[in-house]
Amino acid sequence: MNQLVMGGVAKLNAPAYIKHQKLINWVQEVASLTKPDRVYWCDGSQEEYDRLCAEMVAAGTMKKLNPAKRPNSYLACSDPSDVARVEDRTFICSATREQAGPTNNWTEPAEMRRTLHDLFDGCMRGRTMYVVPFSMGPLGSPIAHIGVELSDSPYVVVNMRIMTRMGKAVYDVLGTDGEFVPCVHSVGAPLRAGQQDVAWPCNPTKYIVHYPETREIWSFGSGYGGNALLGKKCFALRIASNMGYQEAQQGGSGWLAEHMLILGVESPEGKKHYVAAAFPSACGKTNFAMLIPPASFGGWKVTTIGDDIAWIKPGADGRLYAINPEAGYFGVAPGTNEKTNFNCMASMRENTIFTNVALTDDGDVWWEGLTKQAPAHLIDWQGKDWTPASGTKAAHPNARFTVAATQNPVIDAAWDDPAGVPISAFIFGGRRSTTVPLVTEARNWVEGVYMAATMGSETTAAAAGQMGVVRRDPFAMLPFMGYNMSDYFQHWLDLGQKIAAANPAALPKIYCVNWFRTDAEGKFAWPGFGDNMRVLKWMLDRIEGTAGGSDNVFGTTPAYTDLHWEGLAFTEQQFDTITSIDGQAWVEELKLHTELFEKLSYHLPEALAANKAELEKRLAS
Ligand code: GTP
Ligand code: SPV
Ligand code: MN
Repeated sequence: MNQLVMGGVAKLNAPAYIKHQKLINWVQEVASLTKPDRVYWCDGSQEEYDRLCAEMVAAGTMKKLNPAKRPNSYLACSDPSDVARVEDRTFICSATREQAGPTNNWTEPAEMRRTLHDLFDGCMRGRTMYVVPFSMGPLGSPIAHIGVELSDSPYVVVNMRIMTRMGKAVYDVLGTDGEFVPCVHSVGAPLRAGQQDVAWPCNPTKYIVHYPETREIWSFGSGYGGNALLGKKCFALRIASNMGYQEAQQGGSGWLAEHMLILGVESPEGKKHYVAAAFPSACGKTNFAMLIPPASFGGWKVTTIGDDIAWIKPGADGRLYAINPEAGYFGVAPGTNEKTNFNCMASMRENTIFTNVALTDDGDVWWEGLTKQAPAHLIDWQGKDWTPASGTKAAHPNARFTVAATQNPVIDAAWDDPAGVPISAFIFGGRRSTTVPLVTEARNWVEGVYMAATMGSETTAAAAGQMGVVRRDPFAMLPFMGYNMSDYFQHWLDLGQKIAAANPAALPKIYCVNWFRTDAEGKFAWPGFGDNMRVLKWMLDRIEGTAGGSDNVFGTTPAYTDLHWEGLAFTEQQFDTITSIDGQAWVEELKLHTELFEKLSYHLPEALAANKAELEKRLAS
């Protein structure tokens, strides 16, 4: 076992297969600062995963679920103060404030380094520091990037093994001097000699810090999701979005790191398209990525490339190609059931880590929305007895499951293809109970970028803070932007221009959708889930040039008769309630666009301001 108890200054005992001296030196440096009792080099094996899980069961961090009900699966319950991403504690520490932009928290890098140095000094005392090598994207592929996370949380290690390509083979790719993104993570809860550990150590002080210039990530105080699994939001979105932008600044074609699912959709005639869709956190990406078309869509197939993150680059033929840099899903449990997302339920029948769901009396899991009727008794996510009369939620609203992508029964055959898949359309969707219609097609790239840039959405439990408040969430990237938002808009505009200059037909179409309009009783007016296929089909028909649509003030929308309605009792009048455009509401909405553009005025692309002026003119007439 590559484990060593260190007396005083760390001696690492790095395995002989690691030939990268700079990496070893960095691990040594971090160990000297954080002062763990042990350093453990993860190999990514099943044996290692099983052993760490068993250790966490013994420590009370996880419970093993009933193997007859949920084979090889576990439940972890976090500290009630550590249940979601902490956006107000997330920092982009670029050299200047302007480079981070007005949508990000920023502190001067040298000052942040001093703060973090003090926090990390001795923060792993009494614990093991795990060295976690991982690849975002297929191992060794030219579009993949490598990271190494140093963490004192075994929960992070086992989740990273599911969410990324994690293990020993990464060192073969790294060789003696390959590039990697250094990621340092601590729960920030050192143990004194003899001190008893708690089930979920964390610290009320939290920092999720990115240094884009040196491509480093430092995370302190949280063990939960995007705060702690540093390959996901920190690397694959914040650092990667910055990398894709820098590549263009240095004369390359540039690339995109997006908060998008990628799905394949094949017609009965065998015609296949791939689309990428951005929705804010807990707004339906996992559901859309695994959608099962309604029965009346005989022969149509939807397959999953990814459910949360897309890396997108121009290919040799001028089209945009997307890969899913992840290897697993860290999905929202509440609301997921056999009807809303059958494929997702099938994915988590075994080998799953559940976090903050409720435990049933027979050793299985439950969450709000799993079954119509709640069980008579549960242990809730905080370990308390629960009955339907308790009046509290049995599962935390941001409770999640972690599963390998390969367990998805509708995984796309190309999901692991290093070349990626060509994108025919981008879809942007927010959670809006009013104002925004079911679907709108942008008439050109600039109009589409404008739609994405000005998108609003009601906040969800995925981030700490107030829920249900409408905020602007440009491209569903507000919490995940690694540089200035206005420069990002320009990057999208430039990329579109480059593609169109070479081959206008290669340019994906852009759509804006809203599954969440409510009726007079406050209920969702659109059935959603599998029925979203009806909207997707209209988009594909538009791409093929076979569907109708008419112009409104912001773009092109379908008439009732342009959608396929077989198998769904949805009247033209109901359709009107979710597609109608309330002029007064849009005048109010435009004020919010104005507010956003004022905030983003530094480097805001002129084309977007012009698009807004046009829109205002059309609204007024
Ligand atoms: P992150 O993992 O946080 O980025 O979220 P996500 O976008 O993948 O969210 P997910 O698909 O897990 O959905 C979150 C919630 O939205 C669940 O409670 C779903 O039941 C609900 N949801 C998903 N699709 C629809 C839909 O079409 N209509 C309605 N009304 N709810 C939906
Ligand atoms: C999100 O919040 O968008 C997620 C979950 O996908 S987390 O990994 O916690 O950020
Ligand atoms: Mn997400």
